[in-house]
Amino acid sequence: MKSYNDILGLIGNTPLVRINNITRQHGIKAQIFAKMENLNPGYSVKDRIGISMIDDAEEKGILKPGGTLIEATSGNTGIGMALVAAVRGYKCIFVMTDKVSIEKRRYLRAMGADIVIRPAAAKYGSPDHYVSTARRIAEETPNSFYPDQYNHPANPLAHYRTTGPEIWRDTEGRITHFVSSIGTGGTISGTSRFLKEKNPDIRIIGADPYGSIFKTYKETGQAPEATPYLVEGIGQNIPVGNADMKIVDEIINITDRESFEMSRQLGRQEGIFCGGSTGTIFAAALKVAKNLDENAIIVFIVCDTGEHYLTKHHSDEWMKEKLLLEPQKITAGLIAETKNSGSPTELIFVSPDETVSATLALMSEKGVTQIPVLENNESVGSVRESRILTKLIENRDLLEAKVSEVMEKSFPIVDVDASSSEIKTKLQKSPAVLIEDFKRITGIITRSDVLDLPK
Ligand SMILES: Cc1ncc(COP(=O)(O)O)c(C=O)c1O
Repeated sequence: MKSYNDILGLIGNTPLVRINNITRQHGIKAQIFAKMENLNPGYSVKDRIGISMIDDAEEKGILKPGGTLIEATSGNTGIGMALVAAVRGYKCIFVMTDKVSIEKRRYLRAMGADIVIRPAAAKYGSPDHYVSTARRIAEETPNSFYPDQYNHPANPLAHYRTTGPEIWRDTEGRITHFVSSIGTGGTISGTSRFLKEKNPDIRIIGADPYGSIFKTYKETGQAPEATPYLVEGIGQNIPVGNADMKIVDEIINITDRESFEMSRQLGRQEGIFCGGSTGTIFAAALKVAKNLDENAIIVFIVCDTGEHYLTKHHSDEWMKEKLLLEPQKITAGLIAETKNSGSPTELIFVSPDETVSATLALMSEKGVTQIPVLENNESVGSVRESRILTKLIENRDLLEAKVSEVMEKSFPIVDVDASSSEIKTKLQKSPAVLIEDFKRITGIITRSDVLDLPK
């Protein structure tokens, strides 16, 4: 029978996949390969360290049967540890920041782990910081094991023993550049140590989000003040033990916008559905590749699966809210869907037979100052509160008149896929536009709805 003893047998030995369409589009001659760590059983590169840190603790007798695993994690190390816990019967408590995606939190709960959430804004060393919290819980929990992935040697060792040799084997020793992110530093430090031992000329490139300290720290030896960024799982606000800066040749800073755009492109153009940190790494790999010829073989890490981020950068709504969506993707439909912070909005309208007083009452109840007049789902006119009030000052009897007698011309209509620039142009002449989807009027966009859109 060909089978595995348990799920842990599936960790590692992930394949390399060549990038074709994006490299062609950028006129890149170098070959770029994705190391598909998203194909691990917990869907991330961190499965490798979950088992190696736990094996180490079992061997040293630190972890006993029935014990509790505790770790500070951006989610993926937790998932890697939860796999081992499921197979070997440990309990798990994971401490994460409120930056971690809902998907990863739910995943861990579904795996039976307890989750503690701490504010991402908490200062390192403060009692509220997620690392301090994990340490405290570990101290208070009998028969517990807190590996501390930021400093545990079994973290980089897992990559030295597995990730590095796999890349060397699968490229037949021809790899020239390795590109990885730096979170705990385990992946880049361990993999690179193996690769450099085989061939010291292999260039190691770290991809770091703007806001994280690693680039400046590598270049000056000083850690600057970190600033917030949105990509999960990578970068730091303090130096960490497992991030060996000496083995890294170069660190490239990447913006959130570029990271997410590259992650989305990997899905759409290569079928590699991945997280934001993979986008950061791939963006750095492309920058490196631009100056190289066809003899270069670049390997980059696909850190985790895009499914962890369906409510984050893989959602147009989230991207728009964070002002990161490419302007051409901001369509009429998306603007209407995401106004009112994403809560569903019904189209408020009146029929031409409605009275002016009932229309004003409806507008005041719904808090709108303009309203379309629809008949059989066709737009036949519009009403603006200011205009009606002016008319009422002259003639109070109009309150009982029908809307059809006082309405103005219809708001312009745009298709649900109309671009934000078309909508903005129309809104210069009209206070609102209506959205048509498959011949039905489905929504309205007013001037205030486009105020926060990028130019
Ligand atoms: C999504 C993601 N990408 C990258 C990394 C960084 O890997 P490392 O900690 O080995 O530097 C992590 C680490 O948790 C991660 O969760």
